[in-house]
Amino acid sequence: MSVMKPPSEVSVAGVENAFVERVYDKISSVYDVAFGPILQPGRLRAMAVMAPGPGTRVLEVGVGTGLNLSLYPKACQVTGIDFSQRMLSRAEERVSREGLDARLFQMDAADLRFSDNSFDVVYAPYVISVVPDPLIVLKEMHRVCAGGGRLIVLNHFRSEWPVLSRLERWLSPLTVHVGFKSDVDRDALFGDAGLWPSSVERVNRPRMWSLVTVRK
Ligand SMILES: C[S@@+](CC[C@H](N)C(=O)[O-])C[C@H]1O[C@@H](n2cnc3c(N)ncnc32)[C@H](O)[C@@H]1O
Repeated sequence: MSVMKPPSEVSVAGVENAFVERVYDKISSVYDVAFGPILQPGRLRAMAVMAPGPGTRVLEVGVGTGLNLSLYPKACQVTGIDFSQRMLSRAEERVSREGLDARLFQMDAADLRFSDNSFDVVYAPYVISVVPDPLIVLKEMHRVCAGGGRLIVLNHFRSEWPVLSRLERWLSPLTVHVGFKSDVDRDALFGDAGLWPSSVERVNRPRMWSLVTVRK
């Protein structure tokens, strides 16, 4: 059960978990075709930046249909969570079809059922603008990340261009109905969480998505 948040600098759009879950349950069968290739350059770049070694403990938040799962080197330890059971079922099918080694759980990113400091890398690909409260999710990601580990966030953030930025904020209460907020403000989000990115890189074409790394 999630609480609808009032508008903030992070985003003006409100949404609840139950609604997001319904959207992703509905689109699970077409997700890979609709959002696979177009968002793949960002996923590949994230994996290159992450460069997980043997034994690296990775938590993937919002694992979806498991499009990233095939990209991890065999020897790292991958755990994936998602709120939508239908998306997760697709990920489970992929794991068995491709003989991958990953633990998958249905879980809310805002309430991670893992102990503090459990993972070396906590990775959120295209998830932060989907969840009801991005700030709580970022804080949860930070809590479960071990000291010396990294948070990696791949996401569309509000543009720095004033006109586009105003348009994204205006449209966000509408885009939320198709599964994402168009106006999540990167500086407000990371600033409110008290986290300072060590790198920010633009990815995909057009370069409207960012790959943000934070070191704990
Ligand atoms: C845009 S998809 C991204 C899927 C995948 N990471 C990718 O690279 O394509 C967003 C995913 O986040 C999941 N999600 C949304 N809200 C969530 C929450 N509160 N906790 C966990 N997963 C959530 C959705 O079910 C969906 O699978």
